[in-house]
Amino acid sequence: MKFGHFNDATREYVITEPKTPYPWINYLGNKDFFGLISNTSGGYYFYKDARLLRLTRYRYNNVPTDDGGIYFYINENGNVFNPGWKPCKADYEEYECRHGLGYSVISSKVNGLRAEQTSFVPLDTTASVHRIKLTNESDQEKTFTLFSLVEFCLWDANDDTTNFQRNFSTGEVEVIGSTIYHKTEYRERRNHYAVFSCNEEIDGFDTDRETFIGLYNSFADPDAVLENKSRNSLASGWSPIGSHSKVITLKPGETKSLVFVLGYCENPQDDKWEAQDVINKKPANELLAKFKTDEQVESALAELKAYWTNLLSTYSVKSSDEKLDRMVNIWNQYQCMVTFNMSRSASYFESGIGRGMGFRDSSQDLLGFIHLIPERARERILDIAATQMEDGSAYHQYQPLTKKGNNDIGSGFNDDPLWLIFGVAAYIKETGDWSILDEMVPFDNDESKADTLLVHLKRSFDHVTNNLGPHKLPLIGRADWNDCLNLNCFSENPGESFQTFGPSEGPVAESVFIAGMFVAVGPDYIRMCEQKGLLDEAKAAAAAVEDMTQAVLTAGWDGEWFVRAYDAYSNKIGSKECEEGKIFIEPQGFCVMAGIGVEDGRALKALESVEKYLDTKYGIVLNSPSYTRYHLELGEISSYPPGYKENGGIFCHNNPWVSIAETVVGRGNRAFEVYKKTCPAYLEEISEVHRTEPYVYSQMIAGRDAKNHGEAKNSWLTGTAAWTFYNVSRFILGVKPDYDGLVVDPCLPDDITEFTVTRKFRGDTFNITVDNTAKAQKGVAKLIVDGQEVPFGPIATIGDKVREVKVIMG
Ligand code: BGC
Repeated sequence: MKFGHFNDATREYVITEPKTPYPWINYLGNKDFFGLISNTSGGYYFYKDARLLRLTRYRYNNVPTDDGGIYFYINENGNVFNPGWKPCKADYEEYECRHGLGYSVISSKVNGLRAEQTSFVPLDTTASVHRIKLTNESDQEKTFTLFSLVEFCLWDANDDTTNFQRNFSTGEVEVIGSTIYHKTEYRERRNHYAVFSCNEEIDGFDTDRETFIGLYNSFADPDAVLENKSRNSLASGWSPIGSHSKVITLKPGETKSLVFVLGYCENPQDDKWEAQDVINKKPANELLAKFKTDEQVESALAELKAYWTNLLSTYSVKSSDEKLDRMVNIWNQYQCMVTFNMSRSASYFESGIGRGMGFRDSSQDLLGFIHLIPERARERILDIAATQMEDGSAYHQYQPLTKKGNNDIGSGFNDDPLWLIFGVAAYIKETGDWSILDEMVPFDNDESKADTLLVHLKRSFDHVTNNLGPHKLPLIGRADWNDCLNLNCFSENPGESFQTFGPSEGPVAESVFIAGMFVAVGPDYIRMCEQKGLLDEAKAAAAAVEDMTQAVLTAGWDGEWFVRAYDAYSNKIGSKECEEGKIFIEPQGFCVMAGIGVEDGRALKALESVEKYLDTKYGIVLNSPSYTRYHLELGEISSYPPGYKENGGIFCHNNPWVSIAETVVGRGNRAFEVYKKTCPAYLEEISEVHRTEPYVYSQMIAGRDAKNHGEAKNSWLTGTAAWTFYNVSRFILGVKPDYDGLVVDPCLPDDITEFTVTRKFRGDTFNITVDNTAKAQKGVAKLIVDGQEVPFGPIATIGDKVREVKVIMG
């Protein structure tokens, strides 16, 4: 069942039924100011950091779900409705929510009155704009009152939801004209405040929640709205809100727009006040002046759309498969940008309080947005590298605001260091900017311990070889990519964190996954050393990669597939010898991607085993059979009921690893089948089963051992976005940046017989046509560049030129 449809021309998903199977959200903002907005206008807004600088309140896991957001109420003769249906849930004549790139337009028509809310964060602006357009589509004059509502959060979202003995006495506001200033804690150490303003003269306002809503009422029936009158309340302590009201009369056919701005303003520490207790409003006045008129709002929205048009023009495909095209050209890239901005911090599954930026997560995310914003990717790489320790290990997470490593979680995840090499390689391949390797970067954020980025990468590489176990495989530490495989943890008490309990290292437990990853990134590290003239280092690295390959082919091979790991007793995990968890997806994907066993057929065998033992109609499960009981020696993985999360769930993140691995062995039909199974656009028709947004990937889909097989959770902030884009753009469609130029080497299913890709790369624009009428799956028979047939290989860039590339597969 569908709850809407894609509009590829406008790059929107159009939701036509407010009761979606789960709130279907969108993100507003691209740099400093952000909002999460659901299809019923739920959500919240923050500046830079979802925990520390949250402007509006949101209650996770609330009843009913998704209550609280930016709400507009319309009261016409006692009939109250909202453009986004919630919270009043009035019967509507029409409802629609269009989620676009960085904006959402939500509208309803009730009793002949159309109310349309357009919400977005203009470029380079620390505010969200909400334009309300009201149209009288009836044949009678209408008079009604429009109310706005936001509930202010007391900045630190963690504090806001816990420290009530303090918070209920700190709230402060000012109101001048149509502008409400939220200034809690400004009197002491803050130098910033929030502003909520309307561009027209208002008839009333409220800033005290209890007065506006009523102690025993809810968002759905606020006293002031039901009585159709603001009380002009001034909050003092308790819970400050922002609400305006305006009485409007519209003739039949008449339209009126009002602009509401919710923003963040900062003053210099020594220029905080205008007068005693009166905040300096200069930054607010400057901000609000930019969005006074409908024309200003229209042009800011047009600029935002143009920004996205330009961004997405870097990579676009045209094929016979419209679902493929819309994911590649629009939604997958959009989601990659959202993961760049949010990492794993704020979504409807991530509370914005818990996790900052992951070392591993952010390094992987680079794969998905490096072509869109290479300069910001460069900065991100240097930030991540600065949280690395001198011995090559790394803080598992860091805080976006301070950019410092997070001591609560610490280090010890032994795959983390290698992801840095992965990210840097992707950056250099995209930009050709080798100078990044010479950048001086601190260790542990300590400037006195700075060295070049290349030295950081050496420490990453050596961290693996310095920490080998009994089978000469890498020690796993706290965990590898699978955060839930905690082989040194042995936790027996509820509440202990699987990720931080126990020793951060153990001398026995080993990871075949890290081994595969080491072999996969090895060639990049070697190439970087060669480029910098470190030939001995390159040679030594090549030998280490060869040794690791041998260790995998011996201790890491189980007969039909690659072993997953060895536990702290040196017992195999992911082997036919095991009772449960006999086979895991991760080493099959990564070892084959690394090329291990390609020559002797083991790679193919491993992928056949994936198909035989792990595949389902909704995607490939992480392991099988799922663990049915808690295993002390395995940790969190066995804490989940069978079929969920890392215990037999379809962890979408590593399905593309298998799809890429399939392209390595040349099976284009299977690679595309794997791609399609978890790809949201192909799941739109079963939205009632899948439940999360059909335009973005989710972290997990319940596996076949789960009760709700096929149901997805944790949409938006997942490495799946980057990995699927990496897969489809570079391996399936085959347009791959490389150190010496652009390589075109597709691996296609038989039903894609032809496609074109436009790719901007290092100043050139490549118009690439691929002819697969031979249904070859893999292999380039002819490569024609700018009219000349050339040998297969990287196409060097010229700079600022349009290039014509034709590839004939065969
Ligand atoms: C984490 C990743 C991890 C994955 C698998 C995600 O929630 O963000 O870092 O690799 O789970 O455990």
